[in-house]
Amino acid sequence: MERMPCIGVFDSGAGGLGVLSACLKLRGGVRYYYLADIAHAPYGSRTEREIASYVREGLEIFKDLGADAAVLACNTATAVCVEEMRRAFPFPVVGTEPAVRLAERAGCQQALVLVTPRTARCARFRALLDRGRGCAFTVFSPPRLASAIEASLTEGSRLRLAEHLPRGQFDGVVLGCTHYTLVGEEIAAFYAAPVFDGNLGTARRLLSLAGRDGRPLVGISDHRMGDLTTNKCFTQSCEYKTKNEVIFLNSSKKYNKLQYEQMFSTRFGVEFRQIFTGGGKVF
Ligand code: DGL
Repeated sequence: MERMPCIGVFDSGAGGLGVLSACLKLRGGVRYYYLADIAHAPYGSRTEREIASYVREGLEIFKDLGADAAVLACNTATAVCVEEMRRAFPFPVVGTEPAVRLAERAGCQQALVLVTPRTARCARFRALLDRGRGCAFTVFSPPRLASAIEASLTEGSRLRLAEHLPRGQFDGVVLGCTHYTLVGEEIAAFYAAPVFDGNLGTARRLLSLAGRDGRPLVGISDHRMGDLTTNKCFTQSCEYKTKNEVIFLNSSKKYNKLQYEQMFSTRFGVEFRQIFTGGGKVF
């Protein structure tokens, strides 16, 4: 039997679940490994050197598992070291970036860009903003928002957005940290403005690179799955002959794998086959 394509999804915590969810909706028949580096979270307050070394360790685990591609489902890790990881690993490494271009294309004039403190200081992020046209971006880095979102999801603590977000009038909000996308609706309601994130774009890019024999799993020009195009897949539920598999890898002692598995199935309600690995490498 043909081996399923395997993709590693990496984040400092739960933020990458939004990217994973977008991938699962795009097609079936892929095995995903999810690795949350809870031990070293939040990445937003770490140094570049620290982040690069944690990311490298995570991708080494994917390599040992025979991954065909990996995604840094973390804007901070992408801003810090995606290029370095692309040079270091034999498989494609896809990054996640703040969706400032989407906000521009939607016609925003005054958009708020929410990123972690580390992302805000990265040259890659500044260059992304500098390439912009026509929209004035206000960058804000809530120092504890990612951790508060993580705690609200895993421990059920109450998230008070008003304690983390700046007041102001914006006609769009770019969610430049994957954790923020998990409360995208709440942030949209807070500002009464549309929010933009890179989850879908990242998933499409990833699946266009992750195929075997040079064939993309889902490509820009390869959108058909049976009778459905991938575009349609976003608006209606898809039935795939082959289900996806998701394996949550063990992380630190602080990380409760079971909790993540349950949180993911209840929160995203995506149908997939879960494989619960007893052992798994401890990261
Ligand atoms: N989810 C990560 C991102 O997209 C960062 C969260 C953290 O600070 O650990 O930037």
